Amino acid sequence: MKAAVYYFTGTGNSLAVARDIAKSLEGELISIPSVIQQELVRTDAEVIGVVFPVYIWGMPLIVERFIKKLANLQDKYVFAITTYGGMPGATINFLAKVIESCGGRLAAGYAVHMPGNYTPMYGAIAPEKQERLFARWRSRVEEIADAVKNRRQGIRENSSFLVNLFFSHLVYRAGAPHIPKLDKDFYVDEKCNGCGACARICPVKNVEISGGRPVWLGACEQCLACLQWCPKESIQYGKATARRRRYHHPDVTLDDIIKHAGD
Ligand SMILES: Cc1cc2nc3c(=O)[nH]c(=O)nc-3n(C[C@H](O)[C@H](O)[C@H](O)COP(=O)(O)O)c2cc1C
Ligand code: SF4
Ligand code: SF4
Repeated sequence: MKAAVYYFTGTGNSLAVARDIAKSLEGELISIPSVIQQELVRTDAEVIGVVFPVYIWGMPLIVERFIKKLANLQDKYVFAITTYGGMPGATINFLAKVIESCGGRLAAGYAVHMPGNYTPMYGAIAPEKQERLFARWRSRVEEIADAVKNRRQGIRENSSFLVNLFFSHLVYRAGAPHIPKLDKDFYVDEKCNGCGACARICPVKNVEISGGRPVWLGACEQCLACLQWCPKESIQYGKATARRRRYHHPDVTLDDIIKHAGD
């Protein structure tokens, strides 16, 4: 069995999950930003995995664009894992619909609880709580890898009907078209030293350094990589982030994220 595991991440949760599952399947690990510029994304793997975070009870816009570029979806066994901080909503159902619209079928979609990273609303949870979530994931890796090896079908890990209806079908659908412009609320404080890391890690090249400071270009995915990985914690979003603890997965490094961005 040949497997290709594609992933998108901002703070490393989805990379850590993708890395573990690719290892268990002895598959190839490929970052979505590194292939998104191709007209068609081709692989000779029979199994395709897609791993990505939940955004606003739905999927990152780049994941939808990526699925639409995948060649020969109808011939593949496709599984997905979405990582989330509180409630995944109908993200897996949304993904299944996009795959169907491209002639494929999502065989199994899993949702994995990880530490939340949405600093505009909350700071990082305590390290002991993070560790409990990582331990729970470690206990699931082999179960999911076995399900993939056995080509299990029909798994859909979504939230309840009412959560999906309100948060995913109403809030996500109304909010998603505005995501690219949400970067208007980013700014830097006096701690910025112009190192340029934020520009290098942006997965969609939405940050430029101008006059020694970052400038956001209005085509954002809201992954928060720039805010979370700035070595000076200089990037803020709105009014409350200055006093909140940053988050990234402890086993993921800045170099991993630079590689993810295809820099
Ligand atoms: C813009 C944005 C929106 C988010 N929306 C949700 C959400 O609706 N539900 C949820 O459970 N977590 C939400 N989160 C938290 C992430 O899904 C979660 O922390 C995820 O594991 C981050 O993955 P990453 O480290 O691979 O970027 C959101 C995070 C961001 C940045
Ligand atoms: S990563 Fe931080 S310190 Fe470096 S240029 Fe960007 S905002 Fe400034
Ligand atoms: S500008 Fe920041 S939040 Fe937006 S896509 Fe780039 S790294 Fe992610």
